[in-house]
Amino acid sequence: MKRNTIILGALLSAAAATAAPEYVNIATPNTSLILMTDSAAAPALLYYGPAVADPVQAALAAPENRRTDAYPVFGNYPEGESALSLTMPDGNMTLVLEQKGSPRVTSEAGGATVTSIPLVDRHYPVEVTLNYRTFPGEDVIETWADITNRGKKPLTLTRFDSAALPFASADAWLTSLYGSWANEARVNTERITPGMKVIQNKDGARNSHTSHGEIMISLDGRPSERSGRVIGAALVYSGNYRLRINSDDRGNSQLFAGINPDESAYRLMPAETFTTPALALTFSDSGMGEVSRRFHRWGRNHHIAHGTEVNPILLNSWEGVYFNIDEPTMAGMMQDIADMGGELFVMDDGWFGRRDSDNSSLGDWEVDRRKLPHGLKWLTDEARKKGVRFGIWIEPEMTNSNSEFYKKHPDWILRAPNRDIVEGRGGTQLVLDLANPKVQDFIFNLVDTMLTNNPEIAYIKWDANAPVMQYGSPYLPADRQSELSIRYHRGLTDVLRRIRAKYPDVAIQACASGGGRANYGLLDYTDEFWVSDNTDALQRLGAQWGTSLFFPAVAMGSHISAVPNHTTYRVVPLKFRCDVAMTGRLGMEIQPRDMSAEDRDFCRKAIAEYKKIRPTVQLGDLYRLVSPFDGKGACSLMYVAPDKSQAVYYWFRTNNDYSAPLATRTPMDGLDPDATYKVTELNAIDLTPLPYEGKTFSGKFLLDNGLEMRSNHDLPWGKKVDYCSRVLLLEKQ
Ligand code: DGJ
Repeated sequence: MKRNTIILGALLSAAAATAAPEYVNIATPNTSLILMTDSAAAPALLYYGPAVADPVQAALAAPENRRTDAYPVFGNYPEGESALSLTMPDGNMTLVLEQKGSPRVTSEAGGATVTSIPLVDRHYPVEVTLNYRTFPGEDVIETWADITNRGKKPLTLTRFDSAALPFASADAWLTSLYGSWANEARVNTERITPGMKVIQNKDGARNSHTSHGEIMISLDGRPSERSGRVIGAALVYSGNYRLRINSDDRGNSQLFAGINPDESAYRLMPAETFTTPALALTFSDSGMGEVSRRFHRWGRNHHIAHGTEVNPILLNSWEGVYFNIDEPTMAGMMQDIADMGGELFVMDDGWFGRRDSDNSSLGDWEVDRRKLPHGLKWLTDEARKKGVRFGIWIEPEMTNSNSEFYKKHPDWILRAPNRDIVEGRGGTQLVLDLANPKVQDFIFNLVDTMLTNNPEIAYIKWDANAPVMQYGSPYLPADRQSELSIRYHRGLTDVLRRIRAKYPDVAIQACASGGGRANYGLLDYTDEFWVSDNTDALQRLGAQWGTSLFFPAVAMGSHISAVPNHTTYRVVPLKFRCDVAMTGRLGMEIQPRDMSAEDRDFCRKAIAEYKKIRPTVQLGDLYRLVSPFDGKGACSLMYVAPDKSQAVYYWFRTNNDYSAPLATRTPMDGLDPDATYKVTELNAIDLTPLPYEGKTFSGKFLLDNGLEMRSNHDLPWGKKVDYCSRVLLLEKQ
């Protein structure tokens, strides 16, 4: 591992400062981020790219005449964009920062180092520390700022980005995710043009149904999976965010990323430090695929709870029975998933209060004895007898106006004074005031009591089905109302941190009407997220593809559901549904008793096949081959085990249109060229095997040529289907 080095540099003519600058090389094995620091000025960020041994060379070669501030502040020359803006107690809105002392480098467990650069205002008692944490194993750098009030009166922060990153390219492209409920993680690719591009979220509670706080910037023209220089940026935050790319007419750009400052002015009290969330950066000179793999490894190793362990195969009750929960049905589902080889049963919404529909009872977290007369212990006992673990759904940040809880605690919900309450799902849903420590304690105690009384609960599905619909906290004083969004997420992560500390082994899924909580801010506390309420396999290909740009398969809940699909009403054959679900963390979202014996048998076999490839899928390296967004009639991807001993290749026909192009063959990726791989089709249904079934190929041949996909299933008349998918197991011989 390379250590961070602080190198004394020569005087540069480009350096505006008076003293000799120093260069700080924030280095990972394959990347460098080079800062020029100077005791008489704030640091400049001169370079982010492939590893550089001598930072002076990168500094000499840096473009002139562009803004390179590592952390631009609103101050003198206010025409530029800033990362930090505040108002001093005397009304002065400018900051002028200079470095105070040398950068500090500290080593952390796991090989990470943190370089901290202390800055102070020239006149006012304001300190800003810029921090850069390296992850040498993954080539990721996390950067954030600490803003401290050393004065005697409060300051008001009005913008507080985590970081800024200057970059230059005559043909830079942005890849980002957008969408909506049931249409999460669509991929948007656009050229970066002069002016300001803004990506932001203001949901208040969930931040990824629409746009995402993760992006890629391709510096060498149109993005490619396998070539070109690409910067990846992911904000490690669960709340409202804003990403800005400000570009001039010469191809000079600055990326800013942080908490969304709209209506969020923050009073920073004397001696208080405001720590921004981290912005995680990575860089690849071989396309977007490598950026994804670096984020996946960093996520698994450093953020995702239990991210280095495989997640269980589960049956979730929601799409199977919705609110119609009762003991025989739950026990039957447990038996069925056990019989099919699954490992966990999750009882979804409907088990508490009088929750027969979505219009009541959130907050009344007592078992509904009409449905479950013997309580939760009976269920965990049943699960144990049947050989599966037990999980449970809660939506602890919410209540309904139609609940006992709300009658007792009308002041625990978010609402604005003198306004009628605004209700969401079911016409009655309300969001709790997570800024209130009593509400935080209530949620912690709910989970604590449940897990203490039922120690066999192994998994919690933590849902959140409403945005913040009215802006106001009955708890916060009048002069802190604008801190609500920030304090909501502090409250949420504080509660989750307490739960994690006491129950480190319990798995948690972050669900939010589907994929509203796919972010690294929550994955520190959660094991996975639910990608989308849209479980239509064809649509899931797109949602999972987009999500995979930043998140690994181990975190992506991906379930086999019934047909017609409950969102799209599309009828997709079971094999295709199984194959799609097997590209992520496999589960089922169906009432097995509604399936034919033949279909259940198919799922049983698919689960057995998935177990063979699960470590490779969940913990291996992803290679995206054919995008479902590229109009090639197909989608293809593969996972390769880190030691390249096993790989699994997927191919899906996405458009059965004989007049349209169809990519039936594409070179593979990630394999060992010198190895020999045996090919076996998984979940095979054709009457005649593929021509290469059981045959061996050199890794080089597969990397150069791929394999031709038979694009229809060879089935008897009457059983033929207008879908086709292939899963190939590649085993090193
Ligand atoms: C929304 C989730 O996304 C679903 O999976 C399900 O848990 C429902 N909420 C339950 O109300």
